[in-house]
Amino acid sequence: MQQKKVTIPDIRNRKNGIPLSVMTAYDYPWAKMVDAAGIDIVLVGDSLGMVVLGHPDTVSVTMDEMIHHTKAVVRGVERALVVTDMPFGSYNSSIPAAINNATRILKEGHADAVKLEGGVSMAETVAAIVRAGIPVQGHIGLTPQTATSLGGFKVQGKSAQAAKQLIEDAQALEEAGCFSIVLEAIPAPLADHITREITIPTIGIGAGPGCDGQVLVIHDLVGLYDRFTPKFVKQYAKINEPIAAALAQYKAEVESRAFPAEAHSFTMKSEEMDKLLQLY
Ligand code: KIV
Repeated sequence: MQQKKVTIPDIRNRKNGIPLSVMTAYDYPWAKMVDAAGIDIVLVGDSLGMVVLGHPDTVSVTMDEMIHHTKAVVRGVERALVVTDMPFGSYNSSIPAAINNATRILKEGHADAVKLEGGVSMAETVAAIVRAGIPVQGHIGLTPQTATSLGGFKVQGKSAQAAKQLIEDAQALEEAGCFSIVLEAIPAPLADHITREITIPTIGIGAGPGCDGQVLVIHDLVGLYDRFTPKFVKQYAKINEPIAAALAQYKAEVESRAFPAEAHSFTMKSEEMDKLLQLY
């Protein structure tokens, strides 16, 4: 049965309600599994660059890559809201470029909304994209696209001054029209405070339990990314282990001719085989 699609008002109405579940997906089979689990938002994150494409960071991800993967995700999703990250460079150069690229993500990728990184400095851009009719999710705290300027993948907002800036960032994004904001790698008491200060849902990743929702990268959740695991990740499964065992068994069975067995092979009438042999 066709499920009722999650809408932007549904997400806004979850402020102070049952926490929102958000999970990344980058292709059709994973999107299908995430959606079937009843997750509220599927995020086509630019973490794609690291966990799927093997880059050291998210900076080199392109618009075409985000659109390509969004199309695959959308084909696998019936119910969840699909949000796609705007990659680095696609919204920072000018407001017309940002509107144009956000529009491409909806028109070509068929996502429901876009996400972009930055607070006060991005508020004008966010407001312009929202005015163009495109829902925007904000992302502040540790912003991976500009991690180098932040001194690496580090917890943000630990001093009173830095925390005050993050509160102002969240307020600016709310005013600009964001429908929710991702808070990444900030102290839990600060995330609680921001969550109480704004009227749109906060989605935490490394921001403690007080947010209106939580997000994780699917490859971290299931143990498919081994380069590094941040402290805030909880690994719910280690599917790399059964996959490695299956591959080792496959290789051994190919080499010993145990695979393919009769059950995996096609037959042919023996008289046809005899006729074939008489053909030359
Ligand atoms: O790119 C991504 O997956 C993200 C989440 C970690 C929030 O931005």
